[in-house]
Amino acid sequence: MVDRIETGIYGVDPIIEGGLLENSAITVVGASGTGKTTFAIQFIMKGIENGEQALFVTLEESPKQIMKEAEMMGWDMKKYHEKSLFFIHLSGQNFKEMIEEQLPKLVKARKDYDIKTRVAIDPLTPVIWSTKDRLSQRELIENLFTPLKELGTVMATVEEHSKPGEIVGEDVLLPIYLSDGVFHLEYFPVGGAFNRTFKIIKMRGTSHGEGLYPYIFARGVGVVVRSTPVEVKKEEKQKYDKSFVEALETAEAMDVPENIIGKLETMRKEWSYDYPPDELLEIILSPYRD
Ligand SMILES: Nc1ncnc2c1ncn2[C@@H]1O[C@H](COP(=O)(O)OP(=O)(O)OP(=O)(O)O)[C@@H](O)[C@H]1O
Ligand SMILES: [Mg+2]
Repeated sequence: MVDRIETGIYGVDPIIEGGLLENSAITVVGASGTGKTTFAIQFIMKGIENGEQALFVTLEESPKQIMKEAEMMGWDMKKYHEKSLFFIHLSGQNFKEMIEEQLPKLVKARKDYDIKTRVAIDPLTPVIWSTKDRLSQRELIENLFTPLKELGTVMATVEEHSKPGEIVGEDVLLPIYLSDGVFHLEYFPVGGAFNRTFKIIKMRGTSHGEGLYPYIFARGVGVVVRSTPVEVKKEEKQKYDKSFVEALETAEAMDVPENIIGKLETMRKEWSYDYPPDELLEIILSPYRD
């Protein structure tokens, strides 16, 4: 049996054979506010609770802000700061030098201690945006992932700005490609349990759940992924397709913006619940009715 690293996100480990593979890099992809930082904090805190060490690479928010947010969610990061939790704040534009020169030195120094470590990089986006050249972007991500993966399991987050109809945005293709596993967080303002959904895009070496799972934020425990939804039979799914076709026709006739139509198309493709989507569709379309 291979060792699995518990993610610390409730509901996720059972659908990925118990956890992440050691020394792998996982990317959490999601639009702003979907919960990427919360995922990273939860992953780090799980390691600390298990007696491991943690390295948190921050790019946008300062370590102080991260610790404050964690506190609001119910985790005491401060207690472990500089004891088993260490931060690297990569600010400014000097990523290349930091990544190519300082990071390997730091990793080497820590490796000599042989302590189980997990690493969070939140968010990786500024690294990608620091250059337009695809090859340089790829090199930067590889130079970041490769040494950090030697240290332990890595969870990076990437901001997503997807265009209508796209499953994932273009800027996230490179990190997705270079990661061993990808979690996709989506926010659909549809109301109720389906506001926020979690999906596994890939997980190398793992037989994983393929559903679209709703998740919630529960203060004190953090994100809980509802990973045991009712499986929908194919005929059931087709039964609801009519509702989507009608809603899309209505949307076209009402001049609903393209991005909303894109969202509805995604929703149609992804619908995996055992009840009709009509009410949700009406809620989404109602603002465009006169
Ligand atoms: N206890 C809670 N109850 C409900 N929603 C919450 C709770 N805690 C956090 N949230 C939601 O999660 C959002 C922030 O999550 P988080 O900072 O992890 O997202 P993010 O994807 O990292 O966002 P950003 O792109 O801004 O970095 C909040 O804006 C809020 O909508
Ligand atoms: Mg964040």
